[in-house]
Amino acid sequence: MISKARLKQLAEKFGTPLLVIDHDELRKNYRMFRKYLPRVQPYFAVKAGADPAVVRTLFKEGSSFDVASMPEFDLVYDNIKKMPAKKRQQWIWDKIIYANPIKPIETLTELDQYKPLVTFDNLDEIEKIAEHAPRAGLVLRLKVSNTGAMVELSSKFGATSGEAVDLILEADRRGLVVEGVSFHVGSQTTNYQNYVEALNLTADIYAEAKSRGYTKMNLVDIGGGFPAPYDSTVRPFKELARIINSEIKRLFPKEIEILAEPGRFFVATAGYAVSKIIGKSVRDGKPSYYLNDGVYHTYSGQIFDHAKYPVKAFKRGKTKLSAVFGPTCDALDVISMAEDLPDLNRGEFVYSEMIGAYTYASATTFNGFSPATVVHVNE
Ligand SMILES: Cc1ncc(COP(=O)(O)O)c(C=O)c1O
Repeated sequence: MISKARLKQLAEKFGTPLLVIDHDELRKNYRMFRKYLPRVQPYFAVKAGADPAVVRTLFKEGSSFDVASMPEFDLVYDNIKKMPAKKRQQWIWDKIIYANPIKPIETLTELDQYKPLVTFDNLDEIEKIAEHAPRAGLVLRLKVSNTGAMVELSSKFGATSGEAVDLILEADRRGLVVEGVSFHVGSQTTNYQNYVEALNLTADIYAEAKSRGYTKMNLVDIGGGFPAPYDSTVRPFKELARIINSEIKRLFPKEIEILAEPGRFFVATAGYAVSKIIGKSVRDGKPSYYLNDGVYHTYSGQIFDHAKYPVKAFKRGKTKLSAVFGPTCDALDVISMAEDLPDLNRGEFVYSEMIGAYTYASATTFNGFSPATVVHVNE
């Protein structure tokens, strides 16, 4: 937890817009995940917060990584290849899964040398992998229920349970090895039943594959979706972990490796944004503040991630319902039309907490405004 005074000091020192990443918080989140899900090896989903320092800190803790593009693969590979690995992480599969079910041919050609672990969910992808990355290990991505998730993912990816085993057998027929099954219950999932259903569906796929003669699967990848504690409606992680642990124990023998791909859960609470008021007006009777950060930048999660990051003032005082805008000329660049803020002046700083996931990772340079400077503390 970074104090308001520290945030202000950092903004004065480094300028704004500023994104502060607290590595104590990264470590705390990682350790909580391991403590409550001891059988699950986390592969941090780099897309949630692609940053070399974040990768290094999580690797030192023992994390593996989920990448979804070649630049993400390189970011992880380049940052961990010289670092001493934990005993259990000697092999590229122990460190990286390429978890984008659709891969360009150029990517497969480049990946093949690493004998990577990659996901797939359709026949065309099997053909591509067989031709361009025959040394890959495959993981079938299954379509599962995303009900109650903040971000729905199942409309884009995942084989249905009806086609899953046919695809596994087809990959086998073409000389590929399917190592296991993966799923994603949707990001920021607060409906914990999604995990239960997905694990049971996965166990059914395992049973069907076995009954049809395929016995090479040895891993289950339970994906991401673990919710960040944005507000009090999110039930404690401990509760979710208890549900997952009991289902895993019931459904999968000890030899089956369990992987997960948490993104948001590790980085959301580690990020703080500090920006400056660059303009002020009264619109429709409402105080309106223009910041040097907005939805094309650190607050991009409000568009892409359907998240909301309350804007807070450093000073106290009687509050009024206010509007907060980003710096670009686009009318979409609205952070909030209803924020309770005291009377603020041009040049003053404001801040947002829990803004570390899918925020600076999706910031643009639209309208010529640079993304926030990233500063790491407690590294
Ligand atoms: C394949 C895959 N794995 C993991 C994640 C990370 O999800 P989360 O941030 O919800 O943990 C995502 C997010 O989109 C994803 O697409």
